[in-house]
Amino acid sequence: MLILGIETSCDETSAAVVKDGREIVSSIILSQDALHRQFGGVVPEIACRAHLESIIGIVNNALSDAKVQLAEIDAIAVVNSPGLIGSLLIGVTAAKTLCMVLDVPLLAINHLHAHIYANNLEHENILYPTISLVVSGGHTTLFLSESETKHTPLGWTIDDAAGEAFDKVSKILGLGYPGGPIIDKLARCGNRRAVTFPRAYLEKDSLDFSFSGLKTSVLYYYRGQDVRTSRSKTPSDQEVADIAASFQEAVVDVLIDKTVLASKMYNVRGITLGGGVAANSRLRQRLQEVSKEIGIPVYCPSPKLCTDNAAMVAGLAYKKYLEGDISLLDVESIP
Ligand code: KG4
Ligand code: ZN
Repeated sequence: MLILGIETSCDETSAAVVKDGREIVSSIILSQDALHRQFGGVVPEIACRAHLESIIGIVNNALSDAKVQLAEIDAIAVVNSPGLIGSLLIGVTAAKTLCMVLDVPLLAINHLHAHIYANNLEHENILYPTISLVVSGGHTTLFLSESETKHTPLGWTIDDAAGEAFDKVSKILGLGYPGGPIIDKLARCGNRRAVTFPRAYLEKDSLDFSFSGLKTSVLYYYRGQDVRTSRSKTPSDQEVADIAASFQEAVVDVLIDKTVLASKMYNVRGITLGGGVAANSRLRQRLQEVSKEIGIPVYCPSPKLCTDNAAMVAGLAYKKYLEGDISLLDVESIP
């Protein structure tokens, strides 16, 4: 079965053709980073307009890369939630239109569940239940996953998402956008014990997250207590690398500790990771160590499948199709 997936929930316009939920026949991702970089974050209106301009070309490229005609597509999958409303609407409208024209089923997909499914594109035989951690620019959520399609949220961020914290700290340090990959790279030459930034664990056994205090802490450390004045002395490149490494370690500590806590609380058989921050090299390295310590497998998609892509959407759609979970054409986009 060939499914055409469409993903426009944030600032990547992506389309992919996936066979039987596993084989990525084609995958096209157009990043809008260059459009948003000057603002230090995603501007929703600009994102929506850019999706509108590129969606048809991206779908055509996915089809031609796959060497398939539209008429050979068996179903259309699209992310309808969560995301930026203007961005979601472009993908959902394109998908509904294709379904009407081709008379094929529509599968509306949850973006976070698709991030988790990215693991199933690369790993066969994941044993359930698992704890799934989705860490992206908009979300930091722990799920109890009972199958590829059944995910119950256990905890989430009460303020900033982990990726958002990376992006904002990068902006504070004057490093650029998107901040995650930049900090990840810079942190490799920094001392992660140089600065002790706070780790927010919230109440005992809480599976919720908070990163805004950490971000403010970096701001005060970098600029001094009065944020309206600039720092008296420009920090050296080494000091900036040390701050980046120390900040990253604080984020990773909390993500790991809460994921391990959840895995023990729910006595699961594995841990799966997804979302852009799952591409972080320090997080991946620490998780491999943890996997050995606690004796259960940890799955991480390869970095290109961590960030937003339509292959994970088309993959999950196949499982939903098999379960008969098909959407009506009036399905809404939910931000
Ligand atoms: O999943 P994603 O592509 O989009 C959303 O659904 O939000 O995640 C994007 C986020 C951005 O905040 C970006 O800075 C972060 O993922 N990110 C990383 C890395 N690569 C991307 N964060 C930390 N380390 C990375 N290597
Ligand atoms: Zn995402």
